[in-house]
Amino acid sequence: MTKFDWPVGSNEAEERFGERFENLHLDTRISASHAKPLVNADPVVVPIYHSTTYRFKTVGQFNAPNHGSNFVYRRCGNPTTENVEVVINEIESGQGSLLYNSGLAAISAVFLEFLGTGDHLIAMTPIFSGTSSFINETLRRFGVEVTFVDVEKEEDFAGAVEKAIQSNTKLILVETIANPTMAVPNLLGTIEVAKKHNIRLAVDATFSSPYNIQPLKLGASFSIHSCSKYIGGHTDVIAGVVTVSSYDDWKRLKLQQLTTGSSCSPHDAALLTRGLKTLGLWVDRISSNAQKTAEFLESHPKVHRVYYPGLESHPQHKYAKQTMKKFAGMIAFDVGTADNAIKLIENLKLIDHAVSLGGTESLIEHPLSLTHGKQMLHDDELPPVAPGLLRFSVGIENVADIIDDLNVAFDKL
Ligand SMILES: Cc1ncc(COP(=O)(O)O)c(C=O)c1O
Repeated sequence: MTKFDWPVGSNEAEERFGERFENLHLDTRISASHAKPLVNADPVVVPIYHSTTYRFKTVGQFNAPNHGSNFVYRRCGNPTTENVEVVINEIESGQGSLLYNSGLAAISAVFLEFLGTGDHLIAMTPIFSGTSSFINETLRRFGVEVTFVDVEKEEDFAGAVEKAIQSNTKLILVETIANPTMAVPNLLGTIEVAKKHNIRLAVDATFSSPYNIQPLKLGASFSIHSCSKYIGGHTDVIAGVVTVSSYDDWKRLKLQQLTTGSSCSPHDAALLTRGLKTLGLWVDRISSNAQKTAEFLESHPKVHRVYYPGLESHPQHKYAKQTMKKFAGMIAFDVGTADNAIKLIENLKLIDHAVSLGGTESLIEHPLSLTHGKQMLHDDELPPVAPGLLRFSVGIENVADIIDDLNVAFDKL
């Protein structure tokens, strides 16, 4: 064989059947045929494993510890999703990660596993509207008591959390940066309180990205991300992840995931693998673009107020600086009235008008008209969001063009 004579792939089914294979009908041979795996194949990027199930050579292999190093059924685990879990767990320095089919599935998994009837949850407010809907509409229906602690009103947020603790408090939930107002809790203080009272603390770190903060390293129990944002990063995948500080908690969540069927598709996992490869590059770029854009907005006469954790004027800048490397891409800014906010959005050309965030392209929305308005929430759940507030997800475009797009739109107000 010369070095250019490649071997023809062999049919595993033909080898398995031996002479009987040729006697099978064509439709059966098509169904049974598959390439014998190349034992030396070691792809640089973990491939997409579509298969819903995996062959076992013997019943003994199935019953062996960890099924003899095999997978069983996609809902229960898959090499492509496991790859993402390994990478995220590495970033977070956790005891294990679990990938879900959305960020909200990840958050609700933690709620459902660590809260039951008669338990008490303390949650920060404002918070992502989907999370508050799940708390108010589902957890309360199952008899979970809830206390919301307002991160904007409470000067001593950690102290207010401690005051809210009851004998049945089982979980505390905070976001690193609040959706949609960008308020930042005193995370270190809240971790101290949770530890002192031996209560699990879940941190939704979606807005800051896993590159800028790793809550488990600071002492949190769970780090949660909507991977649809600063992990996928390219606005083409919906997924979520929970990383835990305790292997026992990982086992509980894993078992729950098998029974609730909330695992992530391998196709989505492959997109996350791709996003993660360059995470540091684009999160750094987004963070520096957002810092410059926030500074521009702060100096603009038509802007009443800018909320960006990286600005010294941000009310909780000192807490953001304590825990985050940089401050990612989310800015809230107030242009006075809803009318101004809507006009500004409608005059933008580069910055797209859309919900979601954390991707390579700049996106803007008016929370009270879209994500945090009457369409999405009941009247008693509406967060105290100013009518002129805009939520802006800064992308990787050249920052001069982002600022120019805003400038042109401001001129038309
Ligand atoms: C802070 C935060 N957490 C969780 C989620 C939910 O993520 P997903 O849309 O992937 O379910 C979102 C969605 O916007 C969010 O902003």
